[in-house]
Amino acid sequence: MAVTMKGKDVISIHDLTVEEVWQVIKTAELIKLRHKTGEPYRPLAGKTLGMIFQKPSTRTRISFEVAMLQLGGHAINLAASELQLKRGETIADTARVMARYLDGVMIRTYAHSDVVEFARHADVPVINGLTDLLHPCQALSDLFTLYEKFGRLAGLKLAYVGDGNNVCHSLMFGAAKVGMTLHVAHPEGYAPDEEIARLATGDAAATGARIILGTDPEAAVRDADAVYTDVWASMGQEEEAEERRKVFGPYQVNEALLRLARPGARFMHDLPAHRGEEVTDAVMDGPQSIVWDQAENRLHAQKAILALVL
Ligand code: CP
Ligand code: NVA
Repeated sequence: MAVTMKGKDVISIHDLTVEEVWQVIKTAELIKLRHKTGEPYRPLAGKTLGMIFQKPSTRTRISFEVAMLQLGGHAINLAASELQLKRGETIADTARVMARYLDGVMIRTYAHSDVVEFARHADVPVINGLTDLLHPCQALSDLFTLYEKFGRLAGLKLAYVGDGNNVCHSLMFGAAKVGMTLHVAHPEGYAPDEEIARLATGDAAATGARIILGTDPEAAVRDADAVYTDVWASMGQEEEAEERRKVFGPYQVNEALLRLARPGARFMHDLPAHRGEEVTDAVMDGPQSIVWDQAENRLHAQKAILALVL
C-alpha cells in the first residue's frame, strides 16, 4: 500500500515510518529504471527547490540539482554566506520568506538544530542535506544501493568501521527501520551519540534489526555482507584531523580487514574519501568496491524523495 509523503520534511530517518523508508527505496528503483530506459518522468514541472549550503558539497549539490531538472523542475543554489543570514537575518525569518517562493528547501548546515529551526518556520518540505548529526539522504540512498545489490535488506549484516559520526548515525537509523544488523566499530571516545543509539535500538526492536556498538573492527567485519567507512575527520573537525589520524589507524579498511568479511563482501563509502587514511586505494579501486554506484544512487534516491514530498 502506497503511503503519501506529500509535504513531509526529511530531517531524520528516525522520523520516517518503515513504510515510508520502503516507499523511498521502491520509488528510487522505479525512477532509476525509467531513467535508464529513457522514459520521461516530470512530476515536478514548475516546481523549484532552494538549496542552502553552509558547507562544501560535490555529490549532494550536483545530484539534487540534476534531480530537480530531470523531474521537470528547477533548483537554485544558495550559499549561506551570500544570503542575508550572513548579516544576521534569523533562520526563522529566512525560512518564512523562502517558503513563499519555493516548493521545497534542501539545507546543509553545521548545527543540526539549524535545520530543525528552519523546518519549524518553513511551511514547505525541508530536506536535510547533512548536518553535524545526521545525513539521511546518504543513508536512504545507501539502503537503496544495498537493496539493488542483494535483493533484500532484512537480515543483511553491515559493518561500519570508523567515526561514530553523522553518516554512522543515519545508517543506524536506516538499518533499524529495515531489519538489518549494523555492527559499528569505533575507537574509544568516538562512539555514536548515545541518544541516537537509544532511539535506533528502540526502532530496531520493531523490525528485528540489531544495532551493535563496539571497538573491535575485526568483530564488526566478521560475516559482514558489506563494510562501510567514512572520513576520520568530518567537515568542521579540521583542527582535530592530526589527533584523529593517530587514534584511527587500526580502523583503516584495507585488504586484510576486508578479507575477514564474507567472500565478495561489498565495500561502501559515502565519499569524499581520504585515500590512505580510512581506506586504501586497493580497497577503493578493488572489485568489491561499490562506491561509485553509491554516488550515482544519490541521484535516483533523491529524485524519489523529491517526487514523494514536493
Ligand atoms: N556524500 C556526500 O554527501 O558528498 P558531498 O559532501 O560531496 O555532497
Ligand atoms: N562525515 C562526513 C560526510 C561527508 C559527506 C562529513 O560530515 O564531513
